[in-house]
Amino acid sequence: FVAKRGYHEKVLDHYSNPRNVGSMNKSDLDVGTGLVGAPACGDVMKLQIRVDSATNTISDVKFKTFGCGSAIASSSYLTELVRGMSLEDASRIKNTEIAKELCLPPVKLHCSMLAEDAIKSAIRDYQNKTKRVKQTMGEAL
Ligand code: FES
Ligand code: FES
Repeated sequence: FVAKRGYHEKVLDHYSNPRNVGSMNKSDLDVGTGLVGAPACGDVMKLQIRVDSATNTISDVKFKTFGCGSAIASSSYLTELVRGMSLEDASRIKNTEIAKELCLPPVKLHCSMLAEDAIKSAIRDYQNKTKRVKQTMGEAL
């Protein structure tokens, strides 16, 4: 089923009913924030993960996307995908998997790239944060 304007039904579903929209406190030590832009169009995506440090898995995830329908659908789908996932697995997600699931046309591939960049950047932010905390704790001892 291909809807009006060539968007696939899954895109329209995530676009009109996006999952996990919102934000978390950026300064929480267990939160990683990724903020990325798409050079091709200027759209911006913010993705935040909360990490369970005992298991190194993503316990919660929120996003805000200022962008096109495909970018919103990509981030919405991504949040469902990564919840409960280990950081290692989440960092291996490829934008092509997202594009395939949502049947994005080639001109919309960069929209799913935004989601891949955002999760990678959120994971990096979390890891840098925990590294800094460990260092400070080390210095305090
Ligand atoms: Fe930005 Fe898609 S070009 S809304
Ligand atoms: Fe720019 Fe979709 S057109 S993210």
